[in-house]
Amino acid sequence: MTLDRRLFLQSSSLILAGGITQLIGPDGYALGAPKFAENPIFHPRALMATWSQDPTTTMTLQWLGENEQDGLMRNLWYRQSGHKTWREVPHKARRFPHTDLWQFRAELTGLASDATYRIRVGLDSKQESIRTMPAEATDEITFVSGGDSGSGSAARRTNKLAAIQSPRFVILGGDLAYENGASAKVFLKFIDNYSADLRDERGHLIPLVACIGNHETVGFYYKTRNEAPFFYAMFDGLYSDTGYATLDFGDYLSLVLMDTGHTSQISGDQTDWLERQLKQREDHPNVFLVNHVPMYPCVRSADDKLHASMRKHWSPLLERYNVDAALEHHDHAFKRTHRMLDGLVNDRGVLYLGDGSWGKIRSPEGPEKRPFLAKSTESYHMSLHRLAGKDRFHLALSDRGKVVDVVHTQKLART
Ligand SMILES: [Fe+2]
Repeated sequence: MTLDRRLFLQSSSLILAGGITQLIGPDGYALGAPKFAENPIFHPRALMATWSQDPTTTMTLQWLGENEQDGLMRNLWYRQSGHKTWREVPHKARRFPHTDLWQFRAELTGLASDATYRIRVGLDSKQESIRTMPAEATDEITFVSGGDSGSGSAARRTNKLAAIQSPRFVILGGDLAYENGASAKVFLKFIDNYSADLRDERGHLIPLVACIGNHETVGFYYKTRNEAPFFYAMFDGLYSDTGYATLDFGDYLSLVLMDTGHTSQISGDQTDWLERQLKQREDHPNVFLVNHVPMYPCVRSADDKLHASMRKHWSPLLERYNVDAALEHHDHAFKRTHRMLDGLVNDRGVLYLGDGSWGKIRSPEGPEKRPFLAKSTESYHMSLHRLAGKDRFHLALSDRGKVVDVVHTQKLART
């Protein structure tokens, strides 16, 4: 163990124990106001917000530094907007894969709901801000989804279009950077872009929720977690053991995030887990599946083995437990299906929205060749979702801001 490492661990444990009494009281509150630098000189690279637990009371912050000393010197400071007291929280440090960089992660817990917090990394970085989610969906809630981004010019345009919607968060359903589990340079460009572009109209960091796609791994399908090093480095707070997880926003919104065969099998454990997750949330008002490879693709053949396997194992569960929509990706076009039940168009079925064209584009098949499609277009796009009481609006916008599609849904009544 290096001297720096020993100092870091010692520093963290002292702060955890309230041992730095000149800074932290026994209740965890700072005893004196920290003296922040007037002219920030430290710039935490790729500062990003995400969640490992309930977004109504927590937030996970991550950033990169050039060396371990960057972390040793700087914990995360935060205070609720309108309150004077700053609190300090230690972070975890580890090497960022395939680089000389260090990754730092701090999780804020016990936060007020629907509240703004000011944050600083150490005493010498500039002030940033974040927002927790509301405890209840009494007011309209908006979020953005999409997939298949990369870091090219179209992806940057879609980033900026997403940001000006001021969504509460962004979901990227796989194929984030296209680093194929190998290129740190490509992955760093993606997270640098995200960190720079995804601020809302008041400058808050817009949290990123992601699921895994084939381009997160070395070799695409049926790989180990070690073969998706960048994805798990960023998101293993949520995906601590498996490639799939559920993120519950209080009891009003659940995102069931799937692994479409990249580091987990479709059938077996993941399908059993999916049934348990959906059954527990059968009566919840908003339940969305998020999956990379689509069940109803608009470009690739719907008869391909993986799509067919997902329709066999997962679609019946979505139908049985009244899932509101599947947000799927991978095919690089806009598509909206009809409601589908047992493989057929049926008003009692499930809606599938996709197909992943945040920064990548292909020409899709149309409804005349694929009757399950209600609409498809060759268009870069992201979807803006508005939850307004019992009503939901799903608005697809092209990278140029053109409305590609809008659909209104409500929870299906069970018969
Ligand atoms: Fe993909």
